[in-house]
Amino acid sequence: MPSIAYLECSRCQAHISAETAQSLCPQCAGALYVRYDMAALRQTAKRDEIAPRAAAASTSLGMWRYAAVLPDVEPVTLGEGFTPILRSRRYPNLFLKEEAANPTGTFKARGLSLAVTMARHYGLKKLAVPSAGNAAGALAAYAAAAGIEAHIFMPRDVPLANYLESVACGANVTLVDGLISDCARIVAQRKDAEGWFDISSLKEPFRIEGKKTMGYELVEQSGWRYPDAVFYPTGGGVGLIGMWKAFEEMEALGWVSGKRRPKMIAVQASGCAPIAKAFRQGETVSQMWPDATTFASGLRVPKPYGDALILEIVRESGGLALDFDDQQILASLLDWARHEGLFLSPEGAAATAAYDQLIASGWLSPEDKVVIFNTGAGLKYADVTAAAMHLAFPPPAAPGQKEIEKDHRGIILPARHRAGGIITPQ
Ligand SMILES: Cc1ncc(COP(=O)(O)O)c(C=O)c1O
Ligand SMILES: [Zn+2]
Repeated sequence: MPSIAYLECSRCQAHISAETAQSLCPQCAGALYVRYDMAALRQTAKRDEIAPRAAAASTSLGMWRYAAVLPDVEPVTLGEGFTPILRSRRYPNLFLKEEAANPTGTFKARGLSLAVTMARHYGLKKLAVPSAGNAAGALAAYAAAAGIEAHIFMPRDVPLANYLESVACGANVTLVDGLISDCARIVAQRKDAEGWFDISSLKEPFRIEGKKTMGYELVEQSGWRYPDAVFYPTGGGVGLIGMWKAFEEMEALGWVSGKRRPKMIAVQASGCAPIAKAFRQGETVSQMWPDATTFASGLRVPKPYGDALILEIVRESGGLALDFDDQQILASLLDWARHEGLFLSPEGAAATAAYDQLIASGWLSPEDKVVIFNTGAGLKYADVTAAAMHLAFPPPAAPGQKEIEKDHRGIILPARHRAGGIITPQ
């Protein structure tokens, strides 16, 4: 594992030492990239050693199979990364990168595994995060594994799973009337007084570094070749930025054949589409999106901190930024569930909707090799997807059935507490 040479500002290119924990560039508040001595890495990091070393390891290495291009520290790992890449049953050149297989059920595990690893390395004791939901659950899990305090701020209407997993993992959870941007404001206001380190995406360098492993993986799983296009459900855009960094590194290391980088397709929900709007209007930054609403809750990021980077990458790649409304997202989600057996997250289904549209318009050909990220498990959205489907649960009692019992708070009683339940009451 290489040591970090320095951190580099994505805006002003200032070099900053990684000896101590850093957040944004002290000069211009740009996001920081982790940089290694690439000339030295060319000698030590060998692409063809990755698979044999992973196969010989006694435990699953997950994304840490790329240790040769990650910081030299003892990982806090729950088995994240090296997720399956599945060929669509209907479109032979379409591959789905199934991030549901990660711990906590989403790709957020990658960034938070690395960020919490580095937080432990730096001796940080209290981490705080504003989150659209899934980053909160991932922070709660990795902080629990590392024995670090987690302070979580997320919208009050996140999917139940995000609240449940955060509370279950022992995090301090605050549900906020508002969006991730309101949560970020609270963390920024309170962090100094509380002694919290702000582990928000892009406001420290290691969540990008963890998510870059998606870029390494999709290239390795494609035979160390670039696909023609990558579809990425974009909220804060960290994965897109991380994958682009991975491509740059792989080219510097000679790990990927010279063909052009994939077109990057950033996909958003029409109820919160600041990047798609800025892209269409030819802008280089986004505007704060008012009243963001969509059941793809991970995409409710009204003003991504890395908007300029996202737009630059999408344009440089020859890609697009598009948005789809909740009806289109739900239709694609059900289409994939019914025809492929894959229950996608709404974010992933926004990306599959985008694929259909770009094939129908001829912008993409069915011959193009495409990788779509399903960034999370559909099951994490049981409540919000059921609501989008107008699926009431439990359904009203049929004639002759008892109504399901609820307690005075309206919470369904577990079966064993119910008279006549599956397990007889004690
Ligand atoms: C399932 C899911 N997909 C996509 C995103 C957007 O991720 P990014 O910040 O990398 O754009 C999120 C963010 O919360 C998410 O939870
Ligand atoms: Zn700077």
